[in-house]
Amino acid sequence: MTTQATDRYAVVGHPISHSRSPWIHQEFAKATHQLLEYDRYDVSAADLTSFLDSFFASGGKGLNITLPHKGSAAAAVQQLTPRATLAGAVNTIWMQATGVLVGDNTDGVGLLSDLTHNLGMTLKGRRILLVGAGGAARGVVAPLLEQAPASLVISNRTASRAQSLVALFEHLGPVSARSFSALGDTAFDLVINATAASLTDEVPAIPRQAISPATVCYDMAYGKGDTPFTLFCKVHGARATHTGLGMLVEQAAESFFLWRGIKPKTATVLRELQSLTRAS
Ligand code: ATR
Repeated sequence: MTTQATDRYAVVGHPISHSRSPWIHQEFAKATHQLLEYDRYDVSAADLTSFLDSFFASGGKGLNITLPHKGSAAAAVQQLTPRATLAGAVNTIWMQATGVLVGDNTDGVGLLSDLTHNLGMTLKGRRILLVGAGGAARGVVAPLLEQAPASLVISNRTASRAQSLVALFEHLGPVSARSFSALGDTAFDLVINATAASLTDEVPAIPRQAISPATVCYDMAYGKGDTPFTLFCKVHGARATHTGLGMLVEQAAESFFLWRGIKPKTATVLRELQSLTRAS
């Protein structure tokens, strides 16, 4: 009698001990009656390529890639999906039957599912401000433009990086760059924080006039309770504020679907995660 090995998945990053992905994927596996293992690996930049080779050579089925390796993973795989090419980053990898390693990016879908499905927002015709111009921002520009907003303004501390993003995406829709100071007193319908400022307890220096009582603020970062950015938005009277927990769960659900061919329901997992991370 032969025993079937359990399918192995994992998330790779540096650091990685804080990652919620193993818990999320185990919840999805239970809910969809799938048998799988999901581990976490702390891998340095220098070891990423050899880790990918040995994980898949030993029969591993799929990986999630998180900070700071999403850009290097895009260079390490043999094939990129169109959305991973546009994002310039990979957060999901699997191996085809032919042995080709494929990289995809589910972050954009994750953000859009959270905004439109979980939070019930319509982005068509809206004025959106995307703060930040690093890897996290780049991954969501094309999916945001697909929703046909009236405008997507990218604003970044280093203005030239916002201009570079605009040059990459302007063929896809009404996207423009503006420095923080040039935002003036324009209010937006939706302000998305895609900067790493929360990591150092800072708030990007956008003018408070960007936020009106009609503005929804979304921080792609998350922590216990509010982030510095969601607090800033609350203080300045935003209609609603959200952290990136929903995006985290939704990008995981899309990765799970790519690997297993079944889309897990996300509402219960998101609710449990929200209560686990509620500020005490
Ligand atoms: P990621 O992949 O997380 O986007 P990144 O490519 O290093 O990481 O980009 C980090 C982003 O956060 C950049 O937009 C960065 O602004 P700069 O391009 O000016 O560096 C932004 N950022 C980090 N700390 C910030 C802060 N304290 N205030 C404003 N923006 C900040």
